[in-house]
Amino acid sequence: MTQQFASTAPPPNFRTVKSSQVVLKELMIPSYANFGGKVHGGVILSLMDKIAYTTAASHSRAYCVTASVDSVNFVNPVDVGELVTLMASINYVGRSSMEVGIKVMSEDFKRGIEKHTNTSYFTMVAIDETTRESTPVPGLILEENIEVERFIWGKFRKQYRADYKKQFHQLKTNLNMEKEKTKLLAENCFIKS
Ligand SMILES: CC(C)(COP(=O)(O)OP(=O)(O)OC[C@H]1O[C@@H](n2cnc3c(N)ncnc32)[C@H](O)[C@@H]1OP(=O)(O)O)[C@@H](O)C(=O)NCCC(=O)NCCS
Repeated sequence: MTQQFASTAPPPNFRTVKSSQVVLKELMIPSYANFGGKVHGGVILSLMDKIAYTTAASHSRAYCVTASVDSVNFVNPVDVGELVTLMASINYVGRSSMEVGIKVMSEDFKRGIEKHTNTSYFTMVAIDETTRESTPVPGLILEENIEVERFIWGKFRKQYRADYKKQFHQLKTNLNMEKEKTKLLAENCFIKS
């Protein structure tokens, strides 16, 4: 993929970050609650998957699948009655993959307090519906410095994901399981055999 630094006009099929940005708001109703009275993490994850699809499909104008989700850390609980807002935009595009950055906030109406719930990155891949193979997506027009920075971070995250996959595969291939079992004495487990 060629970066268009010197050009004054982007290639015709490229699309801006703003053209596919999505905001989704949902009221947290009682049926979303767990036994502790807080909203299930799975409810938030489902909304995140929905907005990731909408953003990726809007950019690529293609059917997309979720290829991976980076770690999701819930930094604050969400209560029933709060309004959850998800904001998503395309950070990075490769040939067929798109990294969608998602920020989730929740708002307590009564107290007028807004909390950051989590931020995560979904990798979505555009699929050709006839061949079922991955298919190229339009390039991204970066109009603001923050968009350029997000693209750079997205590029690094893609590399880190690939490195992690490779390293973990190597670990699984080379691991001496018997040796590792002897190290479990210091862990919070009991081997019953
Ligand atoms: C995602 C999927 C299409 C990738 O298939 P593949 O054979 O690896 O496809 P390709 O080699 O053509 O790679 C396509 C792109 O996906 C990216 N990719 C593949 N696996 C990935 C993963 N686990 N995480 C992040 N990106 C991934 C590749 O880097 C590549 O990106 P690029 O084109 O921008 O360089 C395939 O694994 C799939 O269909 N998975 C199931 C997805 C699904 O059903 N999700 C919903 C689950 S309920």
